Amino acid sequence: MTAPRKVSYEGAMRIVSGIVVLLLASWFLSALLGTPEESAAAQTPTEWISSSQCAECHQQIYDEWKSSPHANAWNNEDVRAQSDDFANKDCIDCHAPRPVFETGLGKRVLPRSARRSEGVDCLTCHLLPDGGMAATITNPRAACQPTTRRELQRVSLCAGCHDQHKTVQQWKATPHAEHREGCMECHMPYRDGTPEGGRVHVMPGGHYIEMVRSAVELTAARGADGVARVTLENTSGHAYPTDERSRASDLWWRTLPAEEGVEPGPWTHLHRIRDPYRHEKDLASTLLHWGETRTLRVEDSDGTAVEGRVEVVLVYKRTPYYRDTETGLAMHLVDVEDPFQDSDLVHRVTIEP
Ligand code: HEC
Ligand code: HEC
Ligand code: HEC
Ligand code: HEC
Ligand code: HEC
Repeated sequence: MTAPRKVSYEGAMRIVSGIVVLLLASWFLSALLGTPEESAAAQTPTEWISSSQCAECHQQIYDEWKSSPHANAWNNEDVRAQSDDFANKDCIDCHAPRPVFETGLGKRVLPRSARRSEGVDCLTCHLLPDGGMAATITNPRAACQPTTRRELQRVSLCAGCHDQHKTVQQWKATPHAEHREGCMECHMPYRDGTPEGGRVHVMPGGHYIEMVRSAVELTAARGADGVARVTLENTSGHAYPTDERSRASDLWWRTLPAEEGVEPGPWTHLHRIRDPYRHEKDLASTLLHWGETRTLRVEDSDGTAVEGRVEVVLVYKRTPYYRDTETGLAMHLVDVEDPFQDSDLVHRVTIEP
């Protein structure tokens, strides 16, 4: 995860559109199929070898998971490219893991050798060493033998894979930890707003721009000194962005014309929020931590405050580069003309003269 990324944008976009299609499909399916039915009687224990077995009785959850980045962890084109098709065996650990209850919560997860294409699957989070399922409520009548395991609701379930870049430590420093609002509060909301409906298994993050929008606020004002300033505030549950070092979020500005028919000025880069790769020793981490508000002057590259009407945008990037559309090579920020290239718009504000 720390190596520089050779990322295919087409690949990333295909994944995103795939996710959208699957999400839609899961909605339709879930409307048709209901909740799981109680199996008639206790039967000979089933051997759980694949997530597809769960689909028979947990169709809606299965469809949500199937559309999620977890289900794509092994087939993800960016991961394959950067791991040299998993020739780098270290990458298998979290992208095709053994059940975490088998390796032990809080311990480094271990790789599995079978059905790797299922990625981070149902068995990873639920299968217990005795063959039952880690659950909220024990239910001996159900075929899959759900057994109460409080740890399923704890942050330590996610920590084995998600603290590599300190997401859990960042969370611990927020009031969410104090109020026992774990990762599930935001990443696994209740399906219909109540516990009875169960929790959505999509677990959205950087691949879902709506989720990203909820992580940060952008406001702007021109001070009494005439200087335009923008303020960023982190409203997520950890740093923005978190986890992946390849994520970046950039602020860009341009002047807007006073009269109609005149072109806006060119885009100028103002600020980057990112945790650099380990080899980028000359770059400091500019992650926006929880509760932090950061105010920036809208100024020219030579430090002159910008006058007139100004537009400022915050964009989110799943890889830190802007690529030259012809050569495919990474560009210097000063050469970028279109901030929306390979990026998603998070927020936009306009500052009046
Ligand atoms: C033959 C049907 C059947 C299959 C197959 C099945 N389950 Fe279940 N499962 C049930 C029933 C019935 C319940 C109890 C009702 C409920 O909670 O939905 C249940 C409950 C659960 C619960 C506990 C729900 C809670 O409220 O705490 C979990 C977790 C679970 N199943 C996971 C799985 C997983 C993972 C698989 C696949 C490896 C699986 N199940 C396969 C029928 C099944
Ligand atoms: C300790 C667990 C762990 C190991 C080992 C690991 N990863 Fe990951 N990887 C993750 C997690 C967790 C995420 C999701 C984090 C996020 O989205 O911010 C992730 C996400 C990624 C992504 C981003 C995928 C996307 O679509 O944006 C890439 C690429 C990636 N990993 C490559 C690798 C490579 C290459 C290796 C081996 C050098 C590796 N990973 C080893 C846990 C791991
Ligand atoms: C990344 C971990 C993870 C994966 C992967 C995962 N689950 Fe869950 N699952 C959870 C957590 C956490 C809960 C919530 C437990 C709670 O609220 O007590 C949960 C809850 C459930 C429940 C209880 C009802 C509900 O909707 O909340 C069922 C049933 C279930 N999962 C089945 C599955 C099935 C089937 C799959 C695969 C298609 C799956 N899970 C994949 C972590 C996971
Ligand atoms: C066994 C390892 C493992 C566990 C346990 C795990 N994850 Fe993940 N998670 C991953 C990997 C690997 C990825 C990256 C998948 C990819 O894009 O290739 C990921 C991706 C994610 C993402 C990013 C989604 C996006 O849009 O890119 C979120 C959010 C996430 N996981 C939340 C959770 C939460 C919450 C839990 C605990 C309930 C959890 N995960 C448990 C391995 C794990
Ligand atoms: C208060 C809500 C909230 C809580 C609590 C929370 N998150 Fe997030 N998380 C977000 C938002 C919003 C984003 C999208 C912005 C971003 O990527 O930082 C996100 C993004 C992520 C991502 C995706 C990063 C990527 O590169 O795609 C991962 C992984 C993640 N969170 C893991 C966790 C884990 C693990 C926990 C528990 C320790 C947790 N989150 C707790 C709101 C929350």
